Amino acid sequence: MPRGSRTNNAIQLGAQHAIPHHGASVEGEGVDVVLQDVTFRYPGAERDALHGVSLTLPKGKVVALVGENGSGKTTLASLIAGLYFPTAGTVSYNGTDVREADRESVFDRVALLPQDVDCWPMTVRANIHIGDVGRPLDQEKIEAAAERADIRTVVEELPHGWNSIAVKDFERGVRLSGGQWQRIGVSRAVYRQRDLLIIDEPTAALDPKAEIDMFESLRSFTDDGITTVLLITHRLAATATADVIHVLNQGRLLESGSHAELTALTGGHYRELYELQAAQYGNGSVPAPRKGKPADA
Ligand SMILES: Nc1ncnc2c1ncn2[C@@H]1O[C@H](COP(=O)(O)OP(=O)(O)OP(=O)(O)O)[C@@H](O)[C@H]1O
Ligand SMILES: [Mg+2]
Repeated sequence: MPRGSRTNNAIQLGAQHAIPHHGASVEGEGVDVVLQDVTFRYPGAERDALHGVSLTLPKGKVVALVGENGSGKTTLASLIAGLYFPTAGTVSYNGTDVREADRESVFDRVALLPQDVDCWPMTVRANIHIGDVGRPLDQEKIEAAAERADIRTVVEELPHGWNSIAVKDFERGVRLSGGQWQRIGVSRAVYRQRDLLIIDEPTAALDPKAEIDMFESLRSFTDDGITTVLLITHRLAATATADVIHVLNQGRLLESGSHAELTALTGGHYRELYELQAAQYGNGSVPAPRKGKPADA
């Protein structure tokens, strides 16, 4: 292919995939995110990763997304965050279809902690600031975010504290454990602090008790009545106090409801998974609901 046409092709491809800076902007305080009949298939895949999913993430609520490995949780989180468009169906923010929205105005509403935390060879401070790098660094806010993720003391006790480089081979370098990196990742999303906080299994390297504590801490973001928190996990004890739990199975939304409602469903998938996990982890007790928020609300 002549060089000129290859360049033209590249320009065309680039234009097709560029993030559009036009379209309707998402208006209003907080966000209600609505998915209607969402189907998604990865390019080249033989079957849908998600099929006909309809659900709502209401403003100011804690929503949990649970399901086994490969059930579609991360894919759904990516669609909710506006990173992918549905193959069919719609995702809307406060009534604005994400496909027609100014993407920046969607991204600016979301803080997403992906399942695999990126570990950058920079200072620990910069590794948290990168969550909201478009705004000037705010040390107090960084410390508060780290406190929330229960990693502040660990950082402050390092010989070089916040100036430690988060990779061992460098001068001032430290080696953080997998669980500590996950807490840095949570700090990053908390530091970003947007209307919709999506936490995709930040806790795989944490033990079950630490995961429950982490989710409890993140839950309190909704106390302002504006922030929505989406918690994703396959450990059900950690999400039992969510306002609503959506259960995915092989890309389909199987059940939705509170923990009390779902465990009362005879023959239900959630109930079956919960009983299996409770047997594995002990008595299956769940954390007490927050004040003013009954578990079966
Ligand atoms: N980039 C991709 N390309 C093609 N298929 C993918 C891609 N990512 C995920 N899939 C497929 O989509 C389905 C859903 O995957 P997804 O990662 O959303 O599941 P999950 O519920 O998050 O799983 P886990 O609990 O292991 O994180 C799986 O069948 C997976 O193989
Ligand atoms: Mg996943």
